[in-house]
Amino acid sequence: MTHLYKSIPVRSSEITPKHEYFSRRDFIKATGLIAGSMALAACAPAMPAAAAKPLPTSDAKDDKGDTVNTFEDITNYNNYYEFTTDKQGVAGLAKDFKLSPWTVEVGGLVKKPKTFGIEDLTKKFTQEERIYRLRCVEAWSMVIPWSGFTLASLLKMVEPTSAAKYVRFETVYRPEEMPGQKSPFYPWPYQEGLRLDEAMNDLTFLATGLYGEPNVAQNGAPIRLVVPWKYGFKSIKSIVKIELVAKEPATMWKSIAANEYGFYANVNPAVDHPRWSQSTERRIGEFSRRSTLPFNGYGEQVAHLYKGMNLSKNY
Ligand code: MTE
Repeated sequence: MTHLYKSIPVRSSEITPKHEYFSRRDFIKATGLIAGSMALAACAPAMPAAAAKPLPTSDAKDDKGDTVNTFEDITNYNNYYEFTTDKQGVAGLAKDFKLSPWTVEVGGLVKKPKTFGIEDLTKKFTQEERIYRLRCVEAWSMVIPWSGFTLASLLKMVEPTSAAKYVRFETVYRPEEMPGQKSPFYPWPYQEGLRLDEAMNDLTFLATGLYGEPNVAQNGAPIRLVVPWKYGFKSIKSIVKIELVAKEPATMWKSIAANEYGFYANVNPAVDHPRWSQSTERRIGEFSRRSTLPFNGYGEQVAHLYKGMNLSKNY
């Protein structure tokens, strides 16, 4: 197998640090360029220059040459039903969510079960940066610069037994802080799962950081899964439990509507959702739609995992 994906991890130096961005903004402001560019951006909401808050930015690109989305887009357009189903409302509702103390229990069919404090996880495992495309099942997408470590490195440490065939993940359950968890419509806590070989693939990532800084609550801090070749709902946020199991675990969206959301959920432009086409997507920040790629463009790294499987049946 070629190691093309090694171009996906980026050095932190490629992501513009906040302070550099701030000074660039200051420079632009000082030279009066902001006023000019605001006038040109007819669609931008009117905002007095003084109230404009500088945000981190980056010119970094993914392995297909696509530029990363802005920090503002990534942190203000979220799916996180524990807070609300309103994508633009998550950031506000999550701003007081307690990120520490936090532990992740890793157990089930393993030789060395262990509960990790979040600080152990960021210290014990080699932290890397990865720019990944996120393709939501709702047909929008973004390019996100994460930092974190591979799920494989964590799983190797607990030593799965030969009976372990799947990995099950669980989100924290705190209805007092997460108003959406009071809705009886959803089977809380949010759960997800992967086959063990999918979990061990080098692309499968546990993200603890975003844009070179610690991740923020609305994007699943302090630790969330990122599986870039699958629809976004597999990338479960704010994980407290990881369990190695023998059978395919129940997953949140499959248990609500199995005909619409399968266990595999590999991005597949050839298999439509029963209510909409999956052949194209809207990249947040772009005007025209773009074609959706099989496995979200990561086929070279993962297609072999599904050899001989009927992907229209195992959607
Ligand atoms: N994880 C939890 N716990 N709750 C959620 O509602 N939404 C999923 C996924 N992980 C979700 C979740 C969906 S549908 C998507 S598209 C991604 O998170 C969105 O991630 P983002 O908000 O960081 O872009």
